[in-house]
Amino acid sequence: MRILVVGSGAREHALCWAMKASPLCDALICAPGNAGIQDLADCRPVGVTDLDGLLALARAERIDFVVVGPEAPLVAGLVDHLEAHGFKCFGPSKAAAELEGSKGFTKDLCAKYGVPTGSYLRTTDPDAAKAEIRRRGAPIVVKADGLAAGKGVVVAMKLDEALEAVDAMMLDRRFGDAGIEIVIEEYLAGEEVSFFALVDGKTAIPLASAQDHKAVGDGDTGPNTGGMGAYSPAPALTPALERDVMDRIIRPTLAGMAAEGKPFRGVLFAGLMLTATGPQLIEYNVRFGDPECEVLLRRLKSDVLPALIASREGTLDRTTLDWRPEAALGVVMAAEGYPETPRKGTAIAGLDAAATAAPTVEVFHAGTAWRADKIVADGGRVLVVTALGASVAEAQARAYLAVDKIQWPEGFCRRDIGWRAVAREQGGKH
Ligand code: AMP
Ligand code: GLY
Repeated sequence: MRILVVGSGAREHALCWAMKASPLCDALICAPGNAGIQDLADCRPVGVTDLDGLLALARAERIDFVVVGPEAPLVAGLVDHLEAHGFKCFGPSKAAAELEGSKGFTKDLCAKYGVPTGSYLRTTDPDAAKAEIRRRGAPIVVKADGLAAGKGVVVAMKLDEALEAVDAMMLDRRFGDAGIEIVIEEYLAGEEVSFFALVDGKTAIPLASAQDHKAVGDGDTGPNTGGMGAYSPAPALTPALERDVMDRIIRPTLAGMAAEGKPFRGVLFAGLMLTATGPQLIEYNVRFGDPECEVLLRRLKSDVLPALIASREGTLDRTTLDWRPEAALGVVMAAEGYPETPRKGTAIAGLDAAATAAPTVEVFHAGTAWRADKIVADGGRVLVVTALGASVAEAQARAYLAVDKIQWPEGFCRRDIGWRAVAREQGGKH
């Protein structure tokens, strides 16, 4: 098969790495890709939301199957566009991608189909939003309805912060049209975990759990990012809780989407809060998480490509996946200035030494490019260094041995990825 991967991050590097190993894969093309993906795939300079450009590429390359990584093209309708012209795609339709594209849509769906989530108000009226915030009091959460690159959520511990967030989103339009409508939401307390399921419209099979580290600094301090590291599995999500999540959150959502005429296909990524009264949905994403995808794929023993095809074809009821017993952990290396103003163009060396610094290490590129004969930083998140281990602690130790071989003074990483799981393994408090 001739495969096209859409995206340019470490998630897409990991997807290319996994699919390259598939006996079904004869040719691998990536648009636009990065300097790491270039070692595995033919990279073509077509942007991820250039729907016509991607269609032309699929035609020119006689593509058999398209795997879409990021949310923006899914929400923009890339899958509908390519499928309408006869190209088979992994990922949801534009209508089904509303689960990520509109927070209000998801809250309404949860309310209608009984999926546990925080209570909320969806509104386009700033005065109504503020009245609701005053009525409920802090802590409270304010969310822009649309896509805002992970930045459109304000978890306000004080009333003033929430009221200011309404002005920033609705009056100043800090997130553009994404803030025309907002959601005011109950604050949920607990430990946060991510859970991934592969879905074919009717059947959902659990992938695995993971925990991401959103804050930029050690000890979960500083501004939120796309994710500074992840590990899988997340021990907080016990097998019993996982069954509960499948039965009470994932399956009712899929039944609801089918009933609404928007059957969901692709990866459903549930952000969950493990509250005192059980797991509650924080949000859905309609794609693999990044860096969660990298650690999930490191643990997947089965060939990923037939599973992605089964999601498109509606045959997941006949698909089983085998997982390695080991834990996987990934450390993000970011360019200084990230997340606000990452510095681009600085040279990175030591990647070969990193790859052999410890057993099981695999380095995925997130934002890199070739300049002359050097690999340079070309994004905010630049590398994701992954490793496996018998425990999260072992995977963590191996990943940091590799991180320490990378020569990149203008880059940084968190030194505590996996701390909650490591503390659990050591029997301490978390
Ligand atoms: P989201 O973009 O919806 O994932 O939100 C970003 C982060 O805000 C989440 O990962 C949570 O840490 C936090 N968050 C979102 N909604 C809530 C909520 N209702 N209660 C507490 N924290 C939340
Ligand atoms: N790491 C979180 C995300 O991919 O949205």
